[in-house]
Amino acid sequence: MTRHDPDHIRSKTTSPNFRTVLSERLSRRDLLKGSAAMAAASAIAPGFAGSIFGGEAIAGGTQSSLTFTELKRVYDKTHHVAPGYRAEVLLRWGDAIVADAAEFDPGQQSAASQGRQFGYNNDFVGYLPLPFGSASSERGLLCVNHEYPSPHIMFPGFIAKDDENLGKAVTAQQVEVCKAAMGHSIVEIEKKDGKWAAVANSPLSRRITAETEMVIAGPAAGHDLLKTAADPAGTQVKGTMANCGGGYTPWGTILTCEEFAYEFFGGDAAKTANKESLERMGYEPADYYGFARFDERFHVEKEPNEVNRFQWVVEIDPYDAKSVPVKRTALGRMGHEGATVVVNKDGRVAVYMGDDDHQEYLYRFVSAKPFNPSDRTANMGLLDEGVLSVAKFEADGTLNWLPLVHGEGPLTQANGFADQGEVLIKTQLAADKLGATAMDRPEDFETNPVSGRVYAVLTKSAKRKPDKVDAANPRPENKWGHVIEMIPPGEGKEADHTAAQYKWDILMLCGDPSKPETHAKFHPDTTADGFFMTPDNIAFDPKGRMFVATDGMNDFDLADGIFAVDTDGPARALPKALFCCPTDAEATGPAFTPDGATMFVSVQHPAEGSETIEALSTRWPDFDDKIPPRPSVVVITRDGGGPIGG
Ligand code: FEO
Ligand code: CA
Ligand code: CA
Ligand code: CA
Repeated sequence: MTRHDPDHIRSKTTSPNFRTVLSERLSRRDLLKGSAAMAAASAIAPGFAGSIFGGEAIAGGTQSSLTFTELKRVYDKTHHVAPGYRAEVLLRWGDAIVADAAEFDPGQQSAASQGRQFGYNNDFVGYLPLPFGSASSERGLLCVNHEYPSPHIMFPGFIAKDDENLGKAVTAQQVEVCKAAMGHSIVEIEKKDGKWAAVANSPLSRRITAETEMVIAGPAAGHDLLKTAADPAGTQVKGTMANCGGGYTPWGTILTCEEFAYEFFGGDAAKTANKESLERMGYEPADYYGFARFDERFHVEKEPNEVNRFQWVVEIDPYDAKSVPVKRTALGRMGHEGATVVVNKDGRVAVYMGDDDHQEYLYRFVSAKPFNPSDRTANMGLLDEGVLSVAKFEADGTLNWLPLVHGEGPLTQANGFADQGEVLIKTQLAADKLGATAMDRPEDFETNPVSGRVYAVLTKSAKRKPDKVDAANPRPENKWGHVIEMIPPGEGKEADHTAAQYKWDILMLCGDPSKPETHAKFHPDTTADGFFMTPDNIAFDPKGRMFVATDGMNDFDLADGIFAVDTDGPARALPKALFCCPTDAEATGPAFTPDGATMFVSVQHPAEGSETIEALSTRWPDFDDKIPPRPSVVVITRDGGGPIGG
């Protein structure tokens, strides 16, 4: 039942064919000598040696910086963590988090109760220390996205045997609960005697839902295409939805990313002036969640511009419970997966963002003005002014950032872009015109704080046709995903995240390395427990090691989880298993405390593959016949403390 694996595909700029790509890639042999990418490129050539790995665990002789004993591979009804570690449930769907919230009662949920409780399907997690400006690893705000509801396993007695009927079976009351279950939670948490817990009745704990008032800012604010009957000025909108990945800023705000929000709309796009843009986005007139049946603003024929007011990045100030969230249009409109911020050496900030759909693009925004570390208020408009660019990966190992600026190149009135606002509202159409590289579903996109190199995870794209492979997406029918490395000029703090050109490489081709047909490539010491596939979210610890959360391994009867991997040194691309999820759940949003000793992990959609609430694959984490499975945030620490991963 997952709505999380988009199955629509659109034709894009023609890619060079597989053979051409391969020969261009191989000609880089000298450039890439010794790199994982070279091995990757050669492994996919027909007639080349296949995987060099056996299916058995290989005793690692390589010096990994990750010294923990890895988790043995297991897939069952509960979660597991590596020996010497603890993984405890911290926040569950329905937990009372705002003062006076009702106790969770799965049979009696209302919008009022759900709107004060922890939402459903927790995804991105950000930890912001308390008090503001401190580096506390003992007290902070846990800022958590709630991506989408799953009525078929949320509501006792709910029966909809297939996707198509779900939106028809859901009641008006259930739609209201679903709206209140999405969005974002801000929860004050504290560690006492080595154990993390939510702080009761914190004035900072807060829910943001699909009904919360927010404003629209940046170049598209007030645009004709954002005006509706309820908001003739095009500057105010109710709510945020489909909140998937995210990020946080150095001035202490959260960026929550609206991904497939169009799925909450119904009506026929062809009957609206918005047809081209909606179809490009992948819109299908399914009204999958039934919202359009009860609320006209979700009906594209009745309110064609409402959908344009979603799929943005929303900035929230979690330190002020009364602050109004802001949709930052300068960051573009797409299936936003993450928005991770890095302060460049000149003080300007770069925001890296993926658009998670088959053959979509990678984006970067660079602010016009620098971050001001001594004036928080001055930074609040920083993401309204700057240049959004899209990535084009060349087969020779260069990466060009192509600016999406109205009036430049093909982004003109004659090509359907009246102004910069329209370029941003129709970001994907604009990026098509520039010839950006279509990627295998870009998810998270983060900077290694030590090396300054940047990594994006491409979760998978089984729909990539053999004649559409390219150097950056080298496997046809890519069911396993890969991790791409982008190398700005300069290193570490000197890396230039504003440069027009980077270098790039492939860090890992995911999959089971014992199966030659996957052409998976990791470090040769990778074990049968340690390989992973379908990477979705990444986080770097303070030492610059990458922690990958996966989404989709259960399609291969393997548990999704967290895998830790060095990106540098002798154990580059050697993953080790740290944590795994219960049945049908994905791991998302890993986040660290500043000391690297606590990791927060979202366990999303446990039991989602179950047909109904009467026949569940797990009742994690409560294992109580009266309580449905509950998406929850888990907190991982080491016995006796110390940095996660060693
Ligand atoms: Fe919502 Fe891209 O995963
Ligand atoms: Ca995701
Ligand atoms: Ca991340
Ligand atoms: Ca995903």
